[in-house]
Amino acid sequence: MIKSIPPHGGKLIDRLAVGAEREALLQIARSLPAVTVGDRALSDIEMIATGGLSPLEGFMGREDFETVCEHMHLATGEAWTIPIVLPVSEEEADRVKIGGDLRLDGPDGTAHAVLHVTDKFRHNKRQHAIKVYKTEDQAHPGVAAVHESGDVLLSGPIRVMNLPAHADFVTYRLTPAQSRKAFVDKGWRRVVGFQTRNPIHRAHEYIIKCALEITDGLFLHPLMGATKSDDIPGDVRMRCYEVLIDGYFPRDRVMIGINPAAMRYAGPREAIFHALIRQNCGCTHFIVGRDHAGVGNYYGTYDAQLIFDEFEAGEILIEPLMFEHSFFCRKTGGMATSKTTNSSRDDRIFLSGTAVREMLTAGQYPPAEFTRPEIAQTLIEAMRVRDTGPTGAI
Ligand code: ADX
Ligand code: MG
Repeated sequence: MIKSIPPHGGKLIDRLAVGAEREALLQIARSLPAVTVGDRALSDIEMIATGGLSPLEGFMGREDFETVCEHMHLATGEAWTIPIVLPVSEEEADRVKIGGDLRLDGPDGTAHAVLHVTDKFRHNKRQHAIKVYKTEDQAHPGVAAVHESGDVLLSGPIRVMNLPAHADFVTYRLTPAQSRKAFVDKGWRRVVGFQTRNPIHRAHEYIIKCALEITDGLFLHPLMGATKSDDIPGDVRMRCYEVLIDGYFPRDRVMIGINPAAMRYAGPREAIFHALIRQNCGCTHFIVGRDHAGVGNYYGTYDAQLIFDEFEAGEILIEPLMFEHSFFCRKTGGMATSKTTNSSRDDRIFLSGTAVREMLTAGQYPPAEFTRPEIAQTLIEAMRVRDTGPTGAI
C-alpha cells in the first residue's frame, strides 16, 4: 500500500458542509448579515474548503497575517508565504461584530459560505505589498489587487455550503482528496506537480519530461483562477494541454487537474505557496523553473528557487525540482540549458511570452522549436474566434 505525502500541517482540511449539516447551515445563513465577494475570494473559499490551503481553515487573522508577511510562517509555526485574507469595505465590516457570523455570497447571489468572524483589522496596503510582492509599484498586478481591495480584513474559520459552480472541464476538477486517491490508485509514489498559467511551450515540455524521467507520474496542474487580462484564457490553455498530452505523452503517466487558485504574481513567495498547494494535492515533487510566478522584471530569474533555502529542513515536505532557463539549442539540435550545452547565445532560441503572443495574434506560427505547431494552431484559432467575435465584427 502506497503511503501518501502528509498534507502541509499534517491534516487535510475539509470545510465543506454536506447533507444535514449543509441544510442546517443554509437555513441559518438566510438570516445572517451578508457581503458579496468577488472571484478572488471565491477561489480562496474553494481552496480552503477542499483542503488545498491546509492547514488554513479560513481567512487569516492579524497574528497570522503579520507573521506571514514578516517571517513567512503562520502563528502556529508552519511555513506560509502568502496572506489569505478577506478584504472588505469599512461599511461591509460594520455589518458584523467580532464573534458573529457573516454569510459570504457570490456575485450571482449564491450563498457560498459562513464566516465565523474572530478578528477584523485594517491592513497597511503599502507594507502588505512590499513584504509579499517586494515592490510597491502599482503596475504590478498583485500590488494593484491589494490596493484595489477593501481596507478591512475579516478573519475566521469558514464553513462552505456551496462551492463555486464550474461548468467547464469538470472531469479535471479534482479536489486534493481526489488527486491523492488517484495517485495511490495508479501506484504512483513519486509524483511531480507542474504549475503553469501558460500554454505549454517546448521549454515547459522539456522540464516536465526531465522530471518525468525521475518520477512515476506528472500532475499537470494549471492554475485556472483569476489571471491578468493579457494571459491566455483558461479554456484555451486547457485545449492546448489536451493536445500536447494526447499527442506526445504516455497517457498513463500524466494526470491533468485544475488548480482553482487566483494568480498573485508574487514570484518567490508564490513558488512556496504553489509548492504547498501541490503537496496538499499529494505531489511529492514540484517543478520550479525560471522566474516562477513572476511578472515583468520584479524578481531575479532564480529567486523563486533560492527562497526554498530560507526554510529549515523538514518544514516543507514537498521537494522542489529546480530547472534552469531552457531553450532550443541549434548546435546540439535539442532542448537544453546552460548546464547541458556549450553553444553560444546565437545558437539558442529564446522568445518572450509577449513576442509569442504578438505573433499568434497576427496569425503567425512561432518557430516549431519554440511551440509545437498543433499548439500554435489551437492558439491561433482561439484568438481568431475571440478577435472577430460571433458576428465577425472586430
Ligand atoms: S508561472 O506560474 O510560473 O507564472 P508559467 O506558465 O510561466 O507559470 O511557468 C510554469 C513553470 O515553468 C514555472 O515553474 C516556470 O518557472 C517554468 N518555466 C517557464 N518557462 C521556462 C523556461 N524557458 N525554462 C525553464 N523553466 C521555465
Ligand atoms: Mg513564467
